[in-house]
Amino acid sequence: MKKIKKAVFPVAGLGTRFLPATKANPKEMLPIVDKPLIQYAVEEAVDAGCTELVFITGRNKRSIEDHFDKAYELETELSYKNKVELLEHVQKIIPDNVTCIYIRQTEALGLGHAVLCAQAAIDNEPFAVILADDLIDASKGAITQMVELYQQTGSNIIAVEQIDPEDTASYGIVDVYADAVSGLNRVRNIVEKPQPQDAPSNLGVVGRYILNPTIFNLLRTTPRGAGGEIQLTDAIAASLLHETLLACYFDGTRYDCGSKLGYLHANLVYGLNHPQVGADFKEIIRQTAAKLNLI
Ligand code: UTP
Repeated sequence: MKKIKKAVFPVAGLGTRFLPATKANPKEMLPIVDKPLIQYAVEEAVDAGCTELVFITGRNKRSIEDHFDKAYELETELSYKNKVELLEHVQKIIPDNVTCIYIRQTEALGLGHAVLCAQAAIDNEPFAVILADDLIDASKGAITQMVELYQQTGSNIIAVEQIDPEDTASYGIVDVYADAVSGLNRVRNIVEKPQPQDAPSNLGVVGRYILNPTIFNLLRTTPRGAGGEIQLTDAIAASLLHETLLACYFDGTRYDCGSKLGYLHANLVYGLNHPQVGADFKEIIRQTAAKLNLI
């Protein structure tokens, strides 16, 4: 089985739900406490063994390239002031054996189109796709869990979780059954953003995928779907005619950081668990809750 060495990070979306914060800054650079969302995603990919990271960028996304680049001035300054720990944090953002490639999606035509933009960099290899705005807190990274399943099966894999049945119109929704022979969770059907009455289940796709390169031919012929965008879900649905698709019920907690509430929730939990500020933050929350009569 081929190893998963490449990971694609589509970061070219407009991030309209976070305007005006995302007018000039990418959503993926929003911090959870002190680390931007995209760095959590990159760390997850690197932990899973990926060494080639492909970012699909758009306008106003330069800060992502800068974030993963060497910052000579900053490093000199930190070193001069003997701020050793901070210097290490800044230098360790990308390990030496990892390469970053940036490809511009000139128009935000949808997630499927963004993934198609990665074709030249991916070539004929299986790859991971990570949406940084789905932050997953897990002791073993979600992509690592999926890579392990890929090594056993060689199949396309999507991460899924139970979602509120009211929210189906915000997700790709899958119909899953247990394969009689392998016992693995196979996807029978996948639909992008159905209304609750049309949804085949309340199992939603979250932003982690392992895909074989056969997906590119399908993406090339995928017409615009929900929201007038070229949807990755539609190409994956077309793959079901010829290929097995597995659902991975990953272990971990997902925060939808593309929405304001999910983002605030993640900051609350990561803030409480933060080694430097967690204890003081807890006290602030306790005092604030008492002052506002929340408890
Ligand atoms: P979203 O559906 O969250 O869209 O995209 P968005 O534009 O980022 O945010 P809103 O809905 O306007 O607030 C899911 C992922 O796909 C990427 C986004 O960057 C995000 O990681 N994407 C989306 C692209 O890279 N290109 C696109 O054309 C669309």
